[in-house]
Amino acid sequence: MIAGSHDAFLKLVPMRDKLVGMTTLHEQAYVQWLGQEANLSQGLAVELGCWLGSLTLPLLEGLARNPTHADRSKPWLHTFDQFLWWPEFDRFVRHTHLAGRFQENQSFFDFFMDQMLSWDGMVQTHQVDLATYEWSGRPIALLIVDAWKYPAVIQRSFQSFLPHLHPGAILFLRDWYWVTDTAMHVAMYRLRDYFQLLYRVPEPASSASFQLMRPLPRDLDFPGSIHEIGEDELHAAFEWSFNLAEGLDRLCVRIGQGWLHAKRGELNHARACIDWVKDQPGHTHPKVQWLRDTLQERGLGAALGWS
Ligand SMILES: C[S@@+](CC[C@H](N)C(=O)[O-])C[C@H]1O[C@@H](n2cnc3c(N)ncnc32)[C@H](O)[C@@H]1O
Repeated sequence: MIAGSHDAFLKLVPMRDKLVGMTTLHEQAYVQWLGQEANLSQGLAVELGCWLGSLTLPLLEGLARNPTHADRSKPWLHTFDQFLWWPEFDRFVRHTHLAGRFQENQSFFDFFMDQMLSWDGMVQTHQVDLATYEWSGRPIALLIVDAWKYPAVIQRSFQSFLPHLHPGAILFLRDWYWVTDTAMHVAMYRLRDYFQLLYRVPEPASSASFQLMRPLPRDLDFPGSIHEIGEDELHAAFEWSFNLAEGLDRLCVRIGQGWLHAKRGELNHARACIDWVKDQPGHTHPKVQWLRDTLQERGLGAALGWS
């Protein structure tokens, strides 16, 4: 259990320069703080979906200051990615020194490893497909996840990584209140009796951390496709998430539900979610407008009646 308020991480924000990545400065500082404060006496840190390492590096800085490691001689962190460039990654490096450097399907593994040079021995990097990977079984105390956008990865994580978390372990979910790739709300609904929401990283981030309160069963499962999620479960999951959220986050949850319905071809349900959002006083807030713009960029504006 981390003692004290998680707001303590805010003091790290002005001390950091934002690293190139999909993450915000607040998320980078918070993950550094988690690395520093988490109790690692019973497990190590694991990161799923590191991309260029914008959370990996702050996490390592935090882990280096953490006095609770059970065994300081082993790698403190295992980090995972396929390290294959997708065209949708381009926009996150558009205005940086990496613009145009990688083409579709090109490996950026060597680039990532160069970032890790000064942390040699403290991090073990795995170039794998997380939809099929089998974790060694070592206990995990801190799980940083930015790859639960893909149901097949969630499914495998349920079978491979989660059973090795012990009570007290922390799960950081990037993009918890983001509005696309929202199947992880169903994932956490399935895990709701075991995890407790710990902290929601304040604006401008949309991530959250959870803590495992009791041992997880060994037979956890999750569908490999959004089309295999039952309609009743989908509704119940977003109701649960909605009630967990506050303020504008509730609008994010509803928009995220709309996105998932739309991707499943359930346009009436999707429109009902968006109509509800449009009726809320917060719908003109710049953040909500930004989410609307995101849906429009993904070609869903007209289908959802939100343009
Ligand atoms: C949202 S990005 C991570 C962004 C990153 N955390 C950062 O700091 O900017 C998701 C990552 O998950 C990886 N990924 C997606 N599916 C995967 C799979 N099946 N196996 C391994 N990695 C995967 C992608 O390659 C990508 O790097």
